[in-house]
Amino acid sequence: MLILCAEGLGINYSKMLRVLIKRALSNNCHFKRFRAKRFFRQYQEISAQEAEAVTEMLSNSWKDTSIPDQQFQIVNDQLTDYRNGHPDPTFDSLTNILTRNIPELNSCKILEIGCSSGYLSEIFRIKGIFSRYQGCDYSPAFIKSARKLYPYNQWDVEDATALSYQDDSFNLVISGCCVLHIFDYAAAIAQAARVARKYVVFHRTPVFNNKGPVFYLKHAYGVKMLEIHFCEKELSRLMASEGLSIIDEEIIDSFFCDENSFSIKTYLCVKS
Ligand SMILES: C[S@@+](CC[C@H](N)C(=O)[O-])C[C@H]1O[C@@H](n2cnc3c(N)ncnc32)[C@H](O)[C@@H]1O
Repeated sequence: MLILCAEGLGINYSKMLRVLIKRALSNNCHFKRFRAKRFFRQYQEISAQEAEAVTEMLSNSWKDTSIPDQQFQIVNDQLTDYRNGHPDPTFDSLTNILTRNIPELNSCKILEIGCSSGYLSEIFRIKGIFSRYQGCDYSPAFIKSARKLYPYNQWDVEDATALSYQDDSFNLVISGCCVLHIFDYAAAIAQAARVARKYVVFHRTPVFNNKGPVFYLKHAYGVKMLEIHFCEKELSRLMASEGLSIIDEEIIDSFFCDENSFSIKTYLCVKS
């Protein structure tokens, strides 16, 4: 009712009201259960064996040439809101964790792995961070779109599990919501650590506190894809085995699911 009234006043009031209502409800346990149910509705859980069996078939899902335009339509609205000063927990999780911990951020050479059409580079600029930003993605269609949208940055077609960059090439590597789509996520983590000199961020990482990895099939952008929700302890052990220690984290969202706490987190690791 309140939202309908606000809509009569204009879209910005409506958006603000939605955020306020969401914030007010966010500690209510019934609302949390409702959100968890709604969130997991988009996933079909499969076994590790099934995930391994379908991984070859689904490993190229994100390369579908129709995805960049579809994603850009969504992202464009988010970028406009962000430019206009609206907070965004997902974007803020990344910029906050970096500005809080890396004083030399502006002089960092950054690589984003799984960069899609490169929009996180714009988030940095909106926040006044002017590091040297480079990105890669295994989808030629996404890289074509990144080159068109942000021609002054370097964008490469690269597979996260077999990067062609030299060891220690970038002060900061951002694995941008990418390892969760890769069955061999251990290889993707190892590659991110290898090409980083000092810091690695695992942005938008879905984790359970006490179970996992759980494998899912998900429909997004009209294609079927694999998504993995990790066991946080296993993930941090894997990072440690590549010389990465978690020094800070931001929670983008969290709720309870079957006696487990589930969160989407952005981790900042330092390389030893
Ligand atoms: C959810 S989007 C992330 C976009 C952006 N980095 C962000 O954090 O908002 C995941 C991206 O990972 C890319 N990706 C998936 N598997 C990959 C792989 N094996 N190597 C490189 N990129 C991959 C997809 O093409 C897609 O652009």
